[in-house]
Order: sequence, then structure tokens, then C-alpha cells
Amino acid sequence: MSQATAFQPLLDAGKKLEDELVRFRRDLHENPELSMEESETAAKVAERLRALGYEPKTGVGGHGVVAELVGAKPGRTIALRADMDALPIAEESGEPFSSKRPGVMHACGHDAHTAMLLGAAALLAQQRERIAGSVRFLFQSAEEINRGARLMIEQGVLDGVDEIYGLHNLPTLAAGKVATRYGSLMGSVDRIEISLTGKGGHGAIPDQSIDPVVAASAIVMGLQSAVSREISPFDPVVVTIGSLQAGDTYNVIPHRASLVGTIRTFSPAVQASMKERVTRLAGKIAEAYRCTASVDYTEMTPVLVSADECVAHVVRTVEQAIGADNRVEAAPTLAGEDFSLYLQQVPGCFFWLGSGPREGAERAYGLHHPKFRIEETCLPLGASLLAAIALNRLQ
Ligand code: NI
Repeated sequence: MSQATAFQPLLDAGKKLEDELVRFRRDLHENPELSMEESETAAKVAERLRALGYEPKTGVGGHGVVAELVGAKPGRTIALRADMDALPIAEESGEPFSSKRPGVMHACGHDAHTAMLLGAAALLAQQRERIAGSVRFLFQSAEEINRGARLMIEQGVLDGVDEIYGLHNLPTLAAGKVATRYGSLMGSVDRIEISLTGKGGHGAIPDQSIDPVVAASAIVMGLQSAVSREISPFDPVVVTIGSLQAGDTYNVIPHRASLVGTIRTFSPAVQASMKERVTRLAGKIAEAYRCTASVDYTEMTPVLVSADECVAHVVRTVEQAIGADNRVEAAPTLAGEDFSLYLQQVPGCFFWLGSGPREGAERAYGLHHPKFRIEETCLPLGASLLAAIALNRLQ
């Protein structure tokens, strides 16, 4: 698969770390921690970094851990980031090292990301003499709730950083492959909460009531059609109302209804236009049905947009390391990632690393599925690629 290239020694060195990375990842997998609760994970990361000769800072933006490798010569600073948190999902993978914590699972592979970044820290520590500049390692907490990156940035982790790189495993892409994309890779994530107030009453006497259930229904339908009429069909937007709560019984018109949903877009301009649109539509539709609406609109994460020059750098490095045949174009997705917040501050690139089976990866269980699993051969490759991306930039 891999050709003899300048990166072969780094790939070989990564391969030598495989057993250790697998052990570390399985330990995290058995002991997953939810967002903002990653204290044990962070302690293990810090301990491993100290063993490698680093002096990690802990408690950075929640349970984040930051370490820095200062090269032998001065130069730029490259940040590499991994996330560490698990999800409130009951594991059904059947793996012998399944979660020991009921209802908590590393179903997005952040255990693997953490192990890979530690691997990169180990590989780069061996290359210190060749490095002109610094590599900053960011082990971030609370990605799943879109909080960790914001908190870390507030703590100044990007101060002095010239570029940032990160990856996410992808079980529907075969291990050994990488997917990259110029421009937007992942969607923005916003949250809406609409509270409707009508006038409760007897279910048989609607004329004496103001029914918020009918208004809520009209808002659900109105948001779908109005959004599709106001935005170019070439600009994807998803409006999903995931929760609609009203009433308790069959013969009472309730006083209130509430809708909670998410809005995903693929362009910063469209994201910026959504608050006004949703607030107007919900407010005016509610008014038409004589209800009052209050709309709470939260912009959680921006569209994830990689910088062209940094994508080109990743493409070059990946193709030199594993061959052009193993790099594919990534399809866009409206799933979100708070790595996008770093990319708002400094140029960088986020890419997908295949973690699926060699055959039939497209049928593998996806991210956040209770049967999610990964091919662990992606661990040394991810570690080597992260190291190569930084090293290649600091020579
Ligand atoms: Ni994830």
C-alpha cells in the first residue's frame, strides 16, 4: 500500500507504537467519560505526556490538556488537536473491551483520536532535532456538546499558533484511506427553542381557547416550506424540530407548547441569515394563530471551513505518505464539529481518517451508533500522519 517515501521512517515508527496505542485506546474505551467529566482520561493523557518528556498543562478549558514541543531551531507554531469525550449511548459493539460504564460509550472514536495524538507526540519528540518551530498538542474536552473548543480558545491555546490541524475517524471509509475537502467540510450547528403561549381550555370548546398545538404544527410545516422558498437550492439547509411538547391528555387544549430543534447550514452567510428568518416565521405564524411566541436562537458552532493552503499541505503529505490512491475527496456533511471554532481564528485543515473495514466499509455502523467500532490499524497511521503534517511544516 504505502510507497517508499520520505515519510516511510515515520510510518514505520508509528507502526512500532501500534500495540501501545491500541492498549491506551482500549483502556479509554472501557472507561469512557462524558463531556466536561473527562478527569480520568485527562490524567492518563497527562501521565503519558510526562513519560514522553513533556510538561503538560491540565484543566485547560474543562479537562483539556495542552503540551508543547519546542524544536531545536526557531520557527512557526503548529497546533494539533484531538477530542477526548464520550457519548450518553449504551454500547452494543460486542467488543471484548466494551464500556464498563452503563449508558456511556466512545461511539464517536474520540478514544482513538486521543491515542493518535499521543502517538504523534511520541513520534515528534523523537524528531526534535529536525524541528524548526513548535508543535502544540491540544487534548480537548467536551466536543460533543460544542463547548470544549470555545473554552480552550478562551484560555489562549491558540496564542502564537500559525496553523492548526485535526482529524476525525470515519468508519464508513476503509482504514488506510484519508478523505480531504477544500473549503466547507462540515455544517454549522444552531439550536432553536420556540415557546408558544395560547389559552388553555376544554377540548370540545375550541372557540373559547387559543390552541398552541395547532400553531406549533403550523410552525413546523411553515419552517420547512418557507426555508425552502427563501434560500437558494444550491445552499443546503436542514431544519429539524426534534422535540414538540404540549398537553397531557386527549380532551384538553393546553396553554403552552414548546418546540426544540436544530438548524444546519453549509455557508457562513446562510447561517448568519437563519436567526432572523426563523424568529420572523415562528413569530408571525404564531401571531396568525393568536398565540405569542418567544424564540431562543443559539449559534453553537460555525461551518467548518479549512484554509486552501493547509488543505493542499495535507493532500501533499498524505499522498506522499500513503499514495494518491488512498486519498479520496470527502463528501460534505451537515454534522458539526467544534474544530470549526479554531479555524475561525487560525488557518488549518480538518480531514477524515478511514477507520472502517477494508471490505464493505460503506455498510459499517456510523459515528454515534451503539454498534460503532473501528479498525485499530488506523491508530498508528493517524499518529504518523499527524506527526508528518506538523514535521513537514516545520523544516
Ligand atoms: Ni466526534
